[in-house]
Amino acid sequence: MSATPKKTILFVDDEPNILSGLKRMFRPMRKTMKFRFAQSVPEALEVMAAEQIDVVVSDMRMPGMDGAALLTTVKNQYPHAIRIMLTGQADDESIMRTIGVTHQLLTKPTDPDVFKQVISRASALQDLMTDEKLKQLVSGIDSLPSLPETYARLQQTMQNPDCSLADVAKIIEQDLAMSAKILQLVNSAFFGLYKHINSPTRAVNLLGMDTIKALVLGVGVFSEIKSGPSKIFSISALWSHSMATAAFAKKIAGEVSEDQEMIDHCFIAGLLHDVGKLLLFSRLPEQYEQAVVMAGETDCTLDEAELRIFGTGHGEIGGYLIGLWGLPGPVVEAITFHHRIDTYPELSLCPALIVHVADYIYFRLNPDKCIGPPPELNQQAIERTTIQDHIEDWVELCRKIKEQEGEDDG
Ligand SMILES: [Fe+2]
Ligand SMILES: [Fe+2]
Repeated sequence: MSATPKKTILFVDDEPNILSGLKRMFRPMRKTMKFRFAQSVPEALEVMAAEQIDVVVSDMRMPGMDGAALLTTVKNQYPHAIRIMLTGQADDESIMRTIGVTHQLLTKPTDPDVFKQVISRASALQDLMTDEKLKQLVSGIDSLPSLPETYARLQQTMQNPDCSLADVAKIIEQDLAMSAKILQLVNSAFFGLYKHINSPTRAVNLLGMDTIKALVLGVGVFSEIKSGPSKIFSISALWSHSMATAAFAKKIAGEVSEDQEMIDHCFIAGLLHDVGKLLLFSRLPEQYEQAVVMAGETDCTLDEAELRIFGTGHGEIGGYLIGLWGLPGPVVEAITFHHRIDTYPELSLCPALIVHVADYIYFRLNPDKCIGPPPELNQQAIERTTIQDHIEDWVELCRKIKEQEGEDDG
């Protein structure tokens, strides 16, 4: 097996002390990655012209051209490099300028372990791109979407350990369309709150910052990845499916685990598991419609039709995008593997398996909503765990959520 070539990471900062600190911090990782350092934007662009850079990490404030200007140029000239911005705690205005060009925002000072993790993950994602088919597909998409705006602000604020529920609510309130959508969702039967919530502050209080953050990302993704009208593919049906799958995955996770982080991961992975469909449809609409037609007219699933047309599926490309945005590994993996769970290396109950099951249950309860034949439960994966006996109970739990939701709609 040939080794994957080392990934090259470029750090850009005008302060020599910071650059030497970074050199020290990343020295132990030199066996697996190459590091380059530049003290200004022109120097960084020279480095990029001379060799292939996989990940660019830039400081925001620099004399002359700043970090936002650099990442804008990188986005245009080297669209497949991962772009990470370092900003100060209160750089609200400059953050606005980075929206649209940044895949991930990190607040200074960054915890060294977090920083190393972010770099390792970004580099691992570039490895995923060694899959020729996925690489070709991503190259066919001119530029991958950046982090949705309100989510980026929220993420930035929540990186501060002193961040309060009120700070989170305030950011959501500033985005009126987002606020309205979040309140509508929070009041839907998916959350079973049984009382009307009329402010983002109450919503954050009741559901917690992580669930609200996930909802902001879901709503943001669906409103910011734009697509044209289509007679054969419905974005609103995709959104309903995503929201229900998130609610089902959260419910199932709560049945099998008390680990709040794992439950949150299941919710967000459920919400975003089909984001690859949204991305493919928005960027390559004609080909995507072809896949939809193929699945509708033949007996192959939509996932198989995607494989025939694009050489890879919505799970892989969706997982790639979400990884690019720095979401936790279990979430990225759940999205990537939800149709190929038998190839997922982990044997235990994990978000990937739970989302696979939640997706199956959704189409079992709503067979008319499926394009092509409904996805089947992967027996091989199910048999590796102990969940076989619980599936029918979970179907009933999810049926109750669906019925409640139906009453609310009516
Ligand atoms: Fe899917
Ligand atoms: Fe799905």
